[in-house]
Amino acid sequence: MEITPLHDEFAAQVSGCSLLDVVCDAAAYRQVREAFETHSVLVFRDQSITDEVQALFSRAFGPLELTKVGSVGAGTVYAHITNIGPDGQTVAPDDRLAKVVAANQLWHTDSSFKRLPALASMLGARIMPASGGETQFVSTRAAWRRLSDADRLALGDLVVEHSYAYSRERIDTTILTAAEREQLPAVRRRLTWLNPVNGERSLYLASHAGAVPSLPREQARALLAGLTDHATVPTSVYRHFWRQGDAVLWDNRATMHRGIPWPIVEPRHSIRTTISATAADGLASVLAD
Ligand code: OGA
Ligand code: MN
Repeated sequence: MEITPLHDEFAAQVSGCSLLDVVCDAAAYRQVREAFETHSVLVFRDQSITDEVQALFSRAFGPLELTKVGSVGAGTVYAHITNIGPDGQTVAPDDRLAKVVAANQLWHTDSSFKRLPALASMLGARIMPASGGETQFVSTRAAWRRLSDADRLALGDLVVEHSYAYSRERIDTTILTAAEREQLPAVRRRLTWLNPVNGERSLYLASHAGAVPSLPREQARALLAGLTDHATVPTSVYRHFWRQGDAVLWDNRATMHRGIPWPIVEPRHSIRTTISATAADGLASVLAD
């Protein structure tokens, strides 16, 4: 197995190891798990990915989330990230699905708004457009390190409110369904997540983060926007250019990501499996409810 860094701050490609090797071989899992803890984003190329292989691989890292109400594939372990509607055609630009795609283009980490946050996500490419549609990543561990000592001291334990409504309403106040509003109340999280395996702290930020209970609304928004800008400076971005057969695993505790637009008339379909965080992943360090 070879682990090749893709960026100065984080992210690596894993070669000489298939997704199924990780499922079947305990030593391969241990090596990949160690690389995941270290590099935060792992790229696997030229895989023969089926939904089942993706779920088996993901399950090796922990329990899988069921996708939330209102998603394509709701209530299963497979979240469909797609602009293809139920009729098999790409949706119109004003369709709700197109707005959901647009909301995915805000910097975020997955499931920070859920009662149980996510350790990791794996995205497997199924249909990719000829151009555009890349995914960008940043390390919020590196962003934490780049803050001044004074900022780190002041911010480590700050409590932030995350809500699915905050991120969707940044795009359009009509995207959220009544069921989403009812079933996904805001949750409180600390601004940092401590990784118990290596003692590394990271900023826990997302488009879903919209308020700080101890601060007035405008001051909270300015703080969160400033930290997001700090974390996402262009030199800190790894941009993944998708090829058929790619699967990317990322650490939701220590990264943010966003989709990049593509011509919306072209189909794009990926499948995401999402792994819930457990006590062993440092969950207690981030919960503030
Ligand atoms: C996701 C996501 C971005 C993309 O699957 O969680 O944000 O480029 N995807 O598809
Ligand atoms: Mn996402």
